[in-house]
Amino acid sequence: MITSVRGTKDILPEEIPIWDFIERTLKKVSKLFGFQEIRLPIFERTEVFQRSIGENTDVVNKEMYTFLDRGGNSITLRPELTASVARALIQNNLILENSALRLWYYGPLFRYERPQKGRLRQFHQYGAELIGSSQPEADVEIILLAVEIIKELGIKEYTLLLNSIGSSRSRQNYRKALVSYLNQHSSKLSKESQERLKRNPLRILDSKDPQDFDVIQNSPIIYEYLDKESTEHYETTKDLLKTNNIPFKENPFLVRGLDYYTHTVFEFQNNYLGAQDSFGGGGRYNELLAQFGARKNIPAIGFALGIERIILILESQSIKLSPENTKIFVAYNNQTYIPKVIELAHKLRQLGLSTIFDLQKNSLKSQLKEANKNLVDFAVLVCDEEVKSNSLSIKNMKDGSQINLPFDQAIEFLLKSSS
Ligand code: HAM
Repeated sequence: MITSVRGTKDILPEEIPIWDFIERTLKKVSKLFGFQEIRLPIFERTEVFQRSIGENTDVVNKEMYTFLDRGGNSITLRPELTASVARALIQNNLILENSALRLWYYGPLFRYERPQKGRLRQFHQYGAELIGSSQPEADVEIILLAVEIIKELGIKEYTLLLNSIGSSRSRQNYRKALVSYLNQHSSKLSKESQERLKRNPLRILDSKDPQDFDVIQNSPIIYEYLDKESTEHYETTKDLLKTNNIPFKENPFLVRGLDYYTHTVFEFQNNYLGAQDSFGGGGRYNELLAQFGARKNIPAIGFALGIERIILILESQSIKLSPENTKIFVAYNNQTYIPKVIELAHKLRQLGLSTIFDLQKNSLKSQLKEANKNLVDFAVLVCDEEVKSNSLSIKNMKDGSQINLPFDQAIEFLLKSSS
């Protein structure tokens, strides 16, 4: 038996209803907020991700699926979509002066992580990006979109964590102070954090290792290092969230795993997910588009939600969605009736009724068993009596009752019962 690759998952027919529901909800709410869909390639040149996400991040360092194609080009399966969006906006000249762009996307992503509950190597994200505004109102608009989606999906319990990591200049000052403090306490840190201290010290603040907690709790707080503009932006954002009744929890240690962020960063957490407690996250990235060749800094903010993690949360709330069943099974007791059966199935489908029939030349009894297995609403019988009298018998598969009606009336009955 050839099995699937570790960290990938088959999405089976019984799981489709929940995916369908989520996809419909994402589309509906995006439209409500005036966001337009963008669809981008699954793979990009490696350089799209390398510098933008950051050479010292886990994603670039350890998790990218990178390979040389037959032309010798370094290609990477997209590990996220914000960098691809930035590339596409510049390449297709979509940025307009004094006007905001609102985009959303949905699709598979690839990260070579250690698989566990809620962590896969191929997973799906919905994301939204609001490009062209540096105003705190844009931060709130993007958070409101995320919150509305979460509400419409029916996620009952979650926490919105909020922080500001300021402009890159204020972050440099903070980084200096943090490194100096962490160096003094490095012997108390976990092995992984000691390693990070050399490459990406801010990420230590995100550590899930209890050994690091004491040192982190007493480390310098970023707010003391924010410049005036960054502080003002953050304060106004918080005020606007309060005015809009969006509860949030400030967390000065929230730094996120990607290097392109500036100012506001946020995450959505749900306790059920355990170690992988974050089912969505995002933030501002005012300096990213310039990296892709924009003539000046173009401010932007966005977020992404992990679909597999959302499904885990919905399942933990015992949300069950039933599949949309096939409505009708046409059954027959004599193979010479098969042309009639095909004709009837065609007619019913033309009228919008989903219809199947036996393809195994089974006996009538087995056909009805198959109809039961397929959870159809009605079995329509084309047997000797029916053919003789140009009628149809309709068996209600839920309650077992059966009626016989002249052909045209039977069709009408099926149409009425299925609307
Ligand atoms: P991220 O925090 O790396 O952000 O990913 C966002 C979400 O994707 C996570 O909260 C999680 O739900 C899901 N996710 C990430 N990795 C995995 C995995 N291995 N398995 C399952 N789910 C996963 C970004 O990707 C940014 N591009 C978000 C953004 C958009 N920031 C600004 N605009």
